[in-house]
Amino acid sequence: MLTNERRQVGRAMPRIDAPLKVTGRAAYAAEHSEPDMLHGAAVSATIARGRILEIDSRAAKAAFPGIAAIYTHENRPNAAWLDRSWQDETAPPGHTYRPLQNDRVLFDGQPVAFVVADSFENARDAAAMITVRYEVETPETDLTTKLAERYVPPKKRSGISPPPDPRGQPEEAFKEAHFRISGDYLIENEHHNPMELFATTVLYGADGVLAIHDKTQGSQNVQKFVCNVFSLSQDKVNVINAYVGGAFGSGLRPRHQLFFAVMASLDLKRSVKFEIARSDMFYLSYRPAMYQTVSLGADAQGRLTAVLHDTVQVTSRYEDYQEVVVNWSGLAYRCDNVALTYALTKLDAATPGDMRAPGAASGLFALESAMDELSYEVGIDPLELRRRNFVHFDQNENKQLTSKALRACYREGAARFGWERRQAKPRSMHEGHELIGWGMATGIWEAQLQSAKARVRMSANGQVIVQAAASDIGTGTYTILAQIAAEALDVPAEDVSVQIGQSDLPETSVEGGSWTAASSGSAVDAACLAIRQRLLDMAQKDDASPLKDATVEEVVIRDGHLRLDTDPRAGVAISELMARAGETAIEEEGKAGPDAKQMKSFASYTHSAVFVEVRVDEELGLARVTRVVSAVAAGRILNPKTARSQILGGVVMGLGMALHEESMIDHRSGRIMNHNLAEYHVPAHADIQDIDVHFVQEFDDKASPIGVKGLGEIGVCGVAAAVANAIFHATGKRIRHLPITIDKIL
Ligand code: MOS
Repeated sequence: MLTNERRQVGRAMPRIDAPLKVTGRAAYAAEHSEPDMLHGAAVSATIARGRILEIDSRAAKAAFPGIAAIYTHENRPNAAWLDRSWQDETAPPGHTYRPLQNDRVLFDGQPVAFVVADSFENARDAAAMITVRYEVETPETDLTTKLAERYVPPKKRSGISPPPDPRGQPEEAFKEAHFRISGDYLIENEHHNPMELFATTVLYGADGVLAIHDKTQGSQNVQKFVCNVFSLSQDKVNVINAYVGGAFGSGLRPRHQLFFAVMASLDLKRSVKFEIARSDMFYLSYRPAMYQTVSLGADAQGRLTAVLHDTVQVTSRYEDYQEVVVNWSGLAYRCDNVALTYALTKLDAATPGDMRAPGAASGLFALESAMDELSYEVGIDPLELRRRNFVHFDQNENKQLTSKALRACYREGAARFGWERRQAKPRSMHEGHELIGWGMATGIWEAQLQSAKARVRMSANGQVIVQAAASDIGTGTYTILAQIAAEALDVPAEDVSVQIGQSDLPETSVEGGSWTAASSGSAVDAACLAIRQRLLDMAQKDDASPLKDATVEEVVIRDGHLRLDTDPRAGVAISELMARAGETAIEEEGKAGPDAKQMKSFASYTHSAVFVEVRVDEELGLARVTRVVSAVAAGRILNPKTARSQILGGVVMGLGMALHEESMIDHRSGRIMNHNLAEYHVPAHADIQDIDVHFVQEFDDKASPIGVKGLGEIGVCGVAAAVANAIFHATGKRIRHLPITIDKIL
């Protein structure tokens, strides 16, 4: 066994890439350059629906001799993709948006022309001088006027489960329930605004080989996209996403800046860089607006007898973008009568995109608000109501759970928050002119494994290299992979060199769904196991070896030796084994992925309990979140420091969702009115006060080979409801429409 001070996994190790990041040496997609390279800028549509009649670029051309090309639907090079139905692995069913395909305008801000010039400034200014004449059609962008046109998505999006069939007699049970509540919940669009803008730098190399630095959550998905769209072979296309400045799901799909930069680079046989403007981030990817209805019935003790949850969610005209919104309501609590429906409605808007805990963050806002309402109806504490309805299995699929330490989240979270001091009655807690409200909610997210490979190389001198096409979107992938290899091979984590974020490394899926730590981590662990096996095989060539009869499970690597775990004196130096075999290094691959057999009987989720304190200035209608406790059960925690950062970030996004973030559309023009960070408010420092992240102990040997469940998304789940519930407790006002802005509180 390893003594504690030798442990690498579970250590609160600072990011190994931190020095590079804080000194500006970690280069992001837009930070790669070459002398004489070209720069791109897009012209964005100023209508939400219609047709391009004319694009006039004469003035721009006259003013800027440095223009290399201006692409429109009339002159763009023929990308093979424009006529084929190929889709990348992250595309929802439908007809993927293809920039410059034709004269149609499908959404506000759609790029209608792309300028390439000798400098960024010239490209941008030339783009501003291009005028476009449109035939304008009346757009439909208001979800609430389109509820009747709902439809059930025809084809399942890969990885997205449709709602389960109804169980029991939900309608009758609701009618006969002792306690009943019902409410409609509305969430507005929220646009992704990571620090790093979407950017692509294409370095055009000898023989037309492209080195593409792209802001993406998956280098290999982008590589496949480029190869398919432009009919290139894989050896001509290298995609690099070594550092990603946040993405939160917006970087799962290849975005139009990639298409434009590659198109221009191939056409002009030059290196091209294109970084979109912050304002254009609002035309790319967003958590979709949705309208939800939740009805809950309970018996006299508050035990759920009926759960009904319906959702109508926005999508574009051209794709059936889907999330898992309502399914959570069938598995969060024990209930035998459940009906869940999920429908889409089409608007003149870009296709929504996954935003941190897509579906769950939205669906749980409605369910967990409704649970809070029910607690007042029944007259019991909101936390007690959830405890009474605890369930130990996945009732949707009738599966066992790999683990569920949610009771510990409730208990330990409540203790840290001081929940027992809560006065039940709304408006009963105040200080000076401020009303104080305490609210809570449950969070759930799926713990998934995706196919992932990794290669580990161990040199005789103890140097270790880990390689995988995994991404680090700010989550800490570099660091945790180093820790896993370091512990398995017993070297300092600082000595492990991690090479990720490149399409020519071992195959890995996009980083998303909170699955990277479990998936790539297990692949690295498997590669290290293969190294141990190789060393053992080498040792056993010697008949006199003390390890002659040992199995790989019985040996460990310690201090540069392969040793018997039970008798650390019995061992042999790795350098000696390699020397004998004439090797200077050992290299092995490992892989991980979903276990189909196990998934037949087990489901796996992460859980959390979120407790929130708000203070509401009644005269100003101002709500401030002064305290949050997030108690999380997510299996094994590889690194408490990076893990805590994930939850902090998730909570902050949840507070943004609850109180601030809303892309405002003028439905007369169908245009987004606040497409800048001055008017689209993401939480600033002054909005964030005390956040206490607590991980409860949870052992799980089935969620993934290394016991990890993933943390990227659970932090945001339940937060919006906990805030809304706290605001109700403070003010007595139930607000079912996000974000909860001053006007709604007053
Ligand atoms: Mo996530 S929304 O799967 O990056």
